[in-house]
Amino acid sequence: MKTVKIIIANKNHLHFSTEICDVISDSAKVRGTGIAKRTPEYIESKMQNGNAIIALSDGKFAGFCYIEVWGHGKYVAHSGLIVHPDFRNQGLAKKIKEFTFNYSLKKYPKSKVFGITTGLAVMKINSDLGYKPVTFSELTDDPKFWSGCKTCTNFDILTSKDHKMCLCTGMLYDPAKTAIKKEKWFNKKVLKRLKKIKQTMLANNKQLLLWKK
Ligand SMILES: CC(C)(COP(=O)(O)OP(=O)(O)OC[C@H]1O[C@@H](n2cnc3c(N)ncnc32)[C@H](O)[C@@H]1OP(=O)(O)O)[C@@H](O)C(=O)NCCC(=O)NCCS
Repeated sequence: MKTVKIIIANKNHLHFSTEICDVISDSAKVRGTGIAKRTPEYIESKMQNGNAIIALSDGKFAGFCYIEVWGHGKYVAHSGLIVHPDFRNQGLAKKIKEFTFNYSLKKYPKSKVFGITTGLAVMKINSDLGYKPVTFSELTDDPKFWSGCKTCTNFDILTSKDHKMCLCTGMLYDPAKTAIKKEKWFNKKVLKRLKKIKQTMLANNKQLLLWKK
């Protein structure tokens, strides 16, 4: 694989916005699935506010993803994941998603992270990162997020189901739940270690008493 660097996009990358939008819409056509359309202006706004991640190889666009904030920061979504066809099946999407995920957790530590997708690759990557599949009721109710679906070919299905379900699967990562799990795991490990120390001390004490006798 050619050397690819993954970085937080900035104003120096604005000229990639049209190519990014074109690759996103061309790929959706090939896949035959619905997708929310993005404009170059929207991609540029993400780059300007430090909420876009770009992968570059020899100055060429290799991949992209951006972060959106919803419900006044209660949720963030990682959207628009795209890998240029020349760089697919080499683990790049996974790396971009991991980078975006870690960056987003630092920037928005209290926000739940979610995504909606029909793509198996994205589902695999998300579940490796700790996301769980959920119904749409667990995701943001911010109308602006859902209005993004208006440009998707499946929007009729979403509206006919009263915005409760569609062809996409909702996936959610809740940092608070992960913290509780980690704490439980840590407590279990500490208790196990303390028990071991106590047992060793008792065994040593017994040996000392026998030796004194
Ligand atoms: C989907 C996409 C981002 C994957 O990029 P990639 O760099 O080729 O993916 P990776 O090499 O990092 O693969 C990640 C995992 O997904 C799997 N995968 C990749 N492409 C796949 C596909 N088309 N179908 C099923 N699984 C796929 C890989 O085998 C890998 O799984 P593993 O971890 O079990 O080995 C890329 O094909 C793309 O840009 N497609 C068009 C846009 C798109 O569909 N975006 C998702 C919007 S929902």
